[in-house]
Amino acid sequence: MDSALTVSGGLDSSAGKAWFSNDRFGMFIHFGLYALAARHEWVQHREEIAPETYAKYFENFDPDLYDPREWARRAREAGMKYVVLTAKHHEGFCLWDTKFTDYKATNTPYGKDLLKPYVEAFRAEGLKVGFYYSLIDWHHPQFPIDGIHPLRNHPDALEMNKTRDVKKYAEYMHNQVRELLTGFGEISVIWFDFSYPKREYKGMPGKGRADWQSEELIGLVRELQPNIIVGDRLDLPTDGNFPKDLATPEQYTPRVAPTINGKPVRWEVCHTFSGSWGYHRDENTWKDAGQLINILIDTVALGGNLLMNVGPTARGTFDKRAVTALETYGEWLHVNGRSIYGAGPSEYQAPAGTRFTQKGNRLYLHLQTWPFRHVHIPGLGRKVKYAQFLHDASEIHWLDPDAEVDSNIGVAVGDGMLTLELPVLKPDVVTPVVELILKG
Ligand code: GLC
Repeated sequence: MDSALTVSGGLDSSAGKAWFSNDRFGMFIHFGLYALAARHEWVQHREEIAPETYAKYFENFDPDLYDPREWARRAREAGMKYVVLTAKHHEGFCLWDTKFTDYKATNTPYGKDLLKPYVEAFRAEGLKVGFYYSLIDWHHPQFPIDGIHPLRNHPDALEMNKTRDVKKYAEYMHNQVRELLTGFGEISVIWFDFSYPKREYKGMPGKGRADWQSEELIGLVRELQPNIIVGDRLDLPTDGNFPKDLATPEQYTPRVAPTINGKPVRWEVCHTFSGSWGYHRDENTWKDAGQLINILIDTVALGGNLLMNVGPTARGTFDKRAVTALETYGEWLHVNGRSIYGAGPSEYQAPAGTRFTQKGNRLYLHLQTWPFRHVHIPGLGRKVKYAQFLHDASEIHWLDPDAEVDSNIGVAVGDGMLTLELPVLKPDVVTPVVELILKG
């Protein structure tokens, strides 16, 4: 039973997918040739790098320190329960030994498949395994040039498109998806990225479901992996024939939980540590500990999952800044995980500066802004049986909601307010959590 979604009162999810809303927190990994450029995974697009020039990254790709067991250990220690790796990103480079192109890891100086060891390592650490697969492909010779392609401003772009056939490209893609979903055991998530049917540029149309043959593609995916959760960027029709498995807001915290046709939908927000998905050496906008933890809390409080990204270096390692960020999660979740795993939105209204999550009769108050001595929660005064900090299980007192006016803080008689008494000094926890155990 998908407890979190039940709390939010909605969606009937099939049993094979129920793990998702329980697990709440996953690792996204963007790894490819762009790690060598080290200035964003869209570098080929941004700098309009022609394939012949981009080839230098392929010729120098050698992540000699790649050890997926270490990635997996770090993910588990960070409290992450599943993982999604870019099997192929927009640049078209494939991390596995695919039969359908030479543009793959086995043909680089590294010379080995990266995907099998990844799958094995993460499974061994108990994480569910997923793939990201880019619909876009800036390397494939049959992929028509469009407004986001690196060759979009080439004087002969329209001419070059005469020999490119998107049907042939779609066939390639379907073949690769079949390969990915048959050669690696059970795959829990597939993340297709992305469609842009309306983005016309200099007479070159964008791409969407007709190009990807999305209806056939999703049919193939469902046939090969009946329990897989499929990301929603295939531009599938919203006519009800293709129920949405997973909404995927990116790089922002939704104000309200996403819905589809007014109904709740399973969703996952994805974020970066620093603004770039691929390794970016000189990017400086790294989120601080409070932001990292509060993104997770905000998400679960709204009923969503968080997929947090790491962009490994071209040596195949996690950069120190990423390791620190992962440790921030690990440390916090080690003591506060109860408010996240298996938890979801609450029926109660959280006061300003706080967020609630709930699991059965346990209500979790996340104090994102540390108050002075008291926090007042309307409507809960007579409903709480016991209260404690989650990180150290130390008791928290509250004022008697039925007492006469408390001259210190002016609680009115009988207003049902829950007024918790907190220490003046904030405990040494990024965001402290109070666990409220409700009566019967
Ligand atoms: C965007 C970007 C891409 C990234 C993805 C992750 O769609 O194109 O680089 O992989 O977001 O959500």
